[in-house]
Amino acid sequence: MARITAGIGCSHIPVLGFVHDHGRTAEPIFKPAFDGFDWTRRWMREEAKPDVVILVYNDHASAFDMKVIPTFAIGCGESYKPADEGFGPRQVPVVEGHPDLAWHIAQSLILDEFDMTIINEMDVDHGLTVPLTMMYGEVDAWPCKVIPLAVNVVTYPPPSGNRCWALGEAIARAVASFPEDLNVQVWGTGGMSHQLQGPRAGLINREWDNRFLDGLIGESRHLRQIPHVEYLRETGSEGIEMVMWLIMRGALGDNTGILHRHYHVPVSNTALGHIVLEPLAKASAIPAELSDELEAAK
Ligand code: DHB
Ligand code: FE
Repeated sequence: MARITAGIGCSHIPVLGFVHDHGRTAEPIFKPAFDGFDWTRRWMREEAKPDVVILVYNDHASAFDMKVIPTFAIGCGESYKPADEGFGPRQVPVVEGHPDLAWHIAQSLILDEFDMTIINEMDVDHGLTVPLTMMYGEVDAWPCKVIPLAVNVVTYPPPSGNRCWALGEAIARAVASFPEDLNVQVWGTGGMSHQLQGPRAGLINREWDNRFLDGLIGESRHLRQIPHVEYLRETGSEGIEMVMWLIMRGALGDNTGILHRHYHVPVSNTALGHIVLEPLAKASAIPAELSDELEAAK
């Protein structure tokens, strides 16, 4: 059986890809941002070793534009090339897909009433390649297969956080019904607080971001209810990318434990956030009599 063994949240700030590709990660201005991924890179290489990553990300007008705006799209192709984002494509390995699992997930999601767009050919931009770089560093080939799951958070209206969480739950059902023995991770990317344009450009909200990171640990259902307007007001126009982290969190089930966490500001105009979570069995239910007693004792 395929199983989801961990979830990762990670910003996808493009300058980190540029800095990595140009050998500048040890420069004092960038070093603290990269140092926070040392734990994860070792863990990925030596312990976690996922066979497949379902990589929830958003495209930034590299594969889609105003002509086509899928709300949720799943990559079922054999491979995906790094996109040319204006300076030529990044010189990182081609991303290998896992068509068998991807088609299985697409079928399971659609029959579970999530109307996914199916993509067989596309290039992938910093939204997908920067998190891979942060988790694996310099490699000749990416050590895992990747199923890209693209979410529209660029053009209004993006999906609600609640819907994203429910999609994560449906992804977990899909993975659990795939017969091959595969170690699968789900990554939620983008964020954290940032606004790239307009009078509020450069907005960063450490308190809000850290409350969001806190909320992902343990029982996190309250995060489903954060309205779009709160992301926009508190975390800037691009902070809405964080709804994608809720797909990852929804896929991990009711309860999670934390393995690693990193927060650093600023990188470019953006807050950098990173978390590694593992799914935990349900917290043991408190018997009704005892919970009444606890309530009364408050
Ligand atoms: C930048 C772009 C992004 O897509 C993002 O999520 C964060 C930062 C940037 O251009 O700095
Ligand atoms: Fe982005």
